[in-house]
Amino acid sequence: MVVEPVVVAVWAMLPAYVPNNAAVLVGGGRPIDGGRALPDGNRLFGDGKTWRGTAAGTAAGVLLALLLTAVRPAAVEATGVDVPAFPLAAAVGLAFGAMLGDVVASFLKRRTGRERGAAFPGFDQYDFVAGALGLTAVVATEWFLATFALPVLLAVLVLTPLLHVSTNAGAYALGLKDEPW
Ligand code: CTP
Ligand code: MG
Repeated sequence: MVVEPVVVAVWAMLPAYVPNNAAVLVGGGRPIDGGRALPDGNRLFGDGKTWRGTAAGTAAGVLLALLLTAVRPAAVEATGVDVPAFPLAAAVGLAFGAMLGDVVASFLKRRTGRERGAAFPGFDQYDFVAGALGLTAVVATEWFLATFALPVLLAVLVLTPLLHVSTNAGAYALGLKDEPW
C-alpha cells in the first residue's frame, strides 16, 4: 500500500514542518547575525533570521512532537498505521534541524547576493528537510533509521514541496508572509 508510507512521512515530519511557520508568526527582533556582514558586503544571515523566530519555531516543533506522542495510541487506533512516537532527541533534531537548515540556506542566499526574501529555488523547498533529517540522523540515529525507511523517505521528498508551496501560498494570501515562497 502506498498510503502507509505517506501517513508515516507526514506524521514524522510535522515537527519539522511547523517551526518555519511558527517563526513567520512570532519572528522579529534581534537578528542572529547582529547586523554583521561578511567581506563580500552581504549580511551573514540577514534580518529574516532572528533569535525569537528560531527559538519559537524550535519550541513549537518540539511541543508538537510531544503532543503527537501523547495522541499516538489514538492515531494508531484510528488509522491502523504504526506512526512513531517521538523521543525528545528526535523532537529536537527535527524542530531545531529544520530551523538550522533554513538559516544555512539564508547564509547561502546572502553569499549568492540574494536579498532578504528573494526566491532560492530548491533551497526554499528543501532546506528545512535537509536540516531536520540531517540533524535527526545524528542525534537520534536509531529512531531515524527505524522511521525513515526508503518508501517513507521518498514520500517526504515528494510531499514536502507540495505542502510547502501550499502553506506558504496560504500564509501569503492571509497577509502573514511577504512572499508566496
Ligand atoms: N523568521 C525568524 N527567524 C527564523 C526564520 C524566520 O524570525 N529563524 C521570520 C522572519 O520574520 C522572516 C519570516 O519568518 O522574515 C519568514 O521567514 P523566511 O522566509 O525564512 O525569511 P526571509 O525574510 O524570506 O529571509 P531569507 O531571504 O533569509 O530567507
Ligand atoms: Mg523567505
